[in-house]
Amino acid sequence: MRLTAYLRAGLLVAATGVLSAVQAAEDRLDATQIAEAEVLYQQYCALCHGDDRAGYQADHAPSLKSQSLLSTGYPRFMYTTVAYGRANTAMEGYSTEMGGPLDRAQIRLLLRWLVETEEVERVALDHDAVIAGDAQQGKMLYAQHCASCHGADGQGITAPSLGDPALLANAPDAFLKYAIVNGRDGTPMASFSDQLKDGEINSVVAFLRSQAAGWKPEPPTLVEPPAPEDYVLNPEGETPRFTLRDGRYVPAAEVVRALEEKRRFILLDTRPASAWQRSHIPGAVPMPYYREGDRAGENLPNDGTWIVAYCACPHAASDFVINNLQKLGYRNTAVIDEGILVWTAMGLPVTAGAMR
Ligand code: HEC
Ligand code: HEC
Repeated sequence: MRLTAYLRAGLLVAATGVLSAVQAAEDRLDATQIAEAEVLYQQYCALCHGDDRAGYQADHAPSLKSQSLLSTGYPRFMYTTVAYGRANTAMEGYSTEMGGPLDRAQIRLLLRWLVETEEVERVALDHDAVIAGDAQQGKMLYAQHCASCHGADGQGITAPSLGDPALLANAPDAFLKYAIVNGRDGTPMASFSDQLKDGEINSVVAFLRSQAAGWKPEPPTLVEPPAPEDYVLNPEGETPRFTLRDGRYVPAAEVVRALEEKRRFILLDTRPASAWQRSHIPGAVPMPYYREGDRAGENLPNDGTWIVAYCACPHAASDFVINNLQKLGYRNTAVIDEGILVWTAMGLPVTAGAMR
């Protein structure tokens, strides 16, 4: 059983070029690797998934320590999620191919560390099995039992977006079923094995599967971020007038007005650089939250020019960057209250960075 699991992991991995079978089966991380993984985790992931990996620090980011996820999601599902992200959620792609900060080896190290830290026994799932069920019945059951957390259209409310094409393309039927049958320990996702019969769970899986559109990760062609001398928008313009909630949060509408009136200010995109590559508010400078605190102000004039930050979330990453700037003595700083997901949904302007 165990050997099969390892072989399977090895095969998957050989296919995706992520791990080698030998490493999956034998090595354990040494102290240096563990220390490196901890640093990577704190810098890039803790903001949302929490210092202790239990999730729910920001943006309803799921737990990265449940046995249920780690025993079934590693390596392929988790690798793809971290490398390429999930469309329209705060989970961005972190791989260098996507314009993100992490190379394959770093992502691989992080994931191995997550699994080893929790001493997880892998559960071998048949990744190729198609689970047959009545998608119509599944649709009704979904509305009744799942929509309150996962959203009527699978868009995610307090729980992951189950309609997300990147999720569905990478989550085998057996993986989805396992999460529904077993729940996710230590999280709001309960086991449904008492509430739903096996056939009903199959129908829910069939319904979820029926929502999947094709998706394969296609790394974009990366574009150059603006040069520091172009950071200040409308250098000759007047100072914008912002009304801040709680001394910090500026409504999106006022930022749009400042852009239209060609006011002088700086706009920071504090999401991972891959997110800026995909699309951003026109004129925004990529300033990811994971920059070291003392580099938060790199190339930013500290002369009272307004600095407005945003993220997806709507606040976790941008608050973090603005706190760092304030520590460095920057005045006139603000965070866009709505975040870019709402901004985009409001039909406000965004620029596609890289072409896909
Ligand atoms: C009380 C809220 C709630 C309800 C109701 C609920 N879920 Fe969940 N679900 C969650 C949360 C929260 C997570 C993420 C848990 C974690 O890993 O941290 C989750 C995770 C999942 C996952 C794994 C997704 C991933 O990204 O790995 C699947 C699949 C899933 N739920 C399916 C369902 C289905 C199907 C139903 C209905 C039968 C359902 N859930 C009902 C809250 C809920
Ligand atoms: C800005 C917040 C944020 C940051 C930072 C972040 N994540 Fe996530 N992550 C999320 C959200 C939100 C989801 C759920 C997305 C969805 O709705 O499907 C998620 C989902 C995941 C999942 C899928 C879990 C599951 O249950 O299916 C993995 C694995 C993951 N993140 C790993 C990471 C790692 C590793 C890092 C650091 C390199 C990281 N994340 C950084 C917000 C974040």
